[in-house]
Amino acid sequence: MNTRVIAVADNKGGVGKTTTAAVLADGLARMCRKYKNGANVLVVDLDPQGNQADMFGVRADVQAEELCVGNVLLEPENVGLLQDNIISVDRAEEGLPRPNLYLLPASRNLEDVTQDLVIMTTMRTARRSGFDLDTILADALAPLLDHFDFIIIDCPPKLDTLKRAVYNFADEVIVPVKTDHVSLVGARQHTDDLYNLQQENPRKFKARVSLVIPTMLPARQVLAMQVVERMKSFYGRDLVSEPVPESVYVKEAPAAGGKTLFEYAPASAPARVYASIVERVFNG
Ligand SMILES: Nc1ncnc2c1ncn2[C@@H]1O[C@H](COP(=O)(O)OP(=O)(O)O)[C@@H](O)[C@H]1O
Ligand SMILES: [Mg+2]
Repeated sequence: MNTRVIAVADNKGGVGKTTTAAVLADGLARMCRKYKNGANVLVVDLDPQGNQADMFGVRADVQAEELCVGNVLLEPENVGLLQDNIISVDRAEEGLPRPNLYLLPASRNLEDVTQDLVIMTTMRTARRSGFDLDTILADALAPLLDHFDFIIIDCPPKLDTLKRAVYNFADEVIVPVKTDHVSLVGARQHTDDLYNLQQENPRKFKARVSLVIPTMLPARQVLAMQVVERMKSFYGRDLVSEPVPESVYVKEAPAAGGKTLFEYAPASAPARVYASIVERVFNG
C-alpha cells in the first residue's frame, strides 16, 4: 500500500498545528469513506501534552489504558505493543461515527522517553544493536504502513530529539503559519532547518513541504493579508493554501465534548476552507 505520511510541523507553538492535524485526519477519513472503501487514517501525536486525545474526545480512555507513543518508541520491534497503544476514535454510539480513524496518542511519558532515547544513542550497546534515533519512527511504525492510507503526525513546537526521525519517516510536511509577522519568521526558520537536513542527506530526509496553511486570519484582514502575500512570495504561490479564518467554532468544537470541526460546525467559514484543503491533500 502507498501510505502517505504527513507531518504537521512548525517551530512555533499556538499556530494551529494540533487543530490542523485533527481536522485534516478527520477530513481525510471522510474522503476515504467516500472514495477509498473506508481506508484507514491514523493520527500520531508527538506532543507530550497529548491534545489529540482531546480533539477527538477520548482522553479518558487514553489515560485509563496509559496509552502513549513513547511506549512504542522504546521497543521499536514490538508489534503487539504498537497495536496495543493505538486507539479507535470511533464514537458511533454517541452519534459521532469515525469507523476508519485511529490515534496513537501521547502523554507526559513521552518526555521521559525522548530523554532515554538520547541516552541510549550515546551507549555503545545501542550502536551495536543497530539502534538509530534518526530512523526510530520509521522503524517503530513500519508495521502500520500496511494498514493505513494516511498517517498524520502532530508535532510539538520544539521537535529537537525527534526532528530527524520525523523528517526521515514523513513524505510530506504541512506547515500552519499564523498570519502575523513573527510567526512568518518562525516558519522560515523551520523550513530552513528542514532544507539543511535535506542537504545533509536527501535520501534519508525525504520529507518535502507540500503545503503552507495561513491560519487564524483575523476579521480585520489588511495586515494579515500582507503577511499571506509575503508567504506566497517566499514559498511560491502554489504552495500556500487559502487562509483559514479565525473563528470561535474552531475553539468550541473540541470543548463541546471532543467534536471535530466537521462534526460541530460543518457549514462554518473555517470548516469550508479546511474542507477544500482536505480535498487538495487527498488528491495529492
Ligand atoms: N482558525 C482558528 N480560529 C480560532 N482559533 C483557532 C484557530 N485555529 C486554532 N485555534 C486555537 O488556537 C489555539 C492554538 O491552536 P493549536 O492548534 O493548539 O496550535 P499548536 O498545536 O500549533 O500549538 C487553540 O486554542 C486553538 O483552538
Ligand atoms: Mg499542538
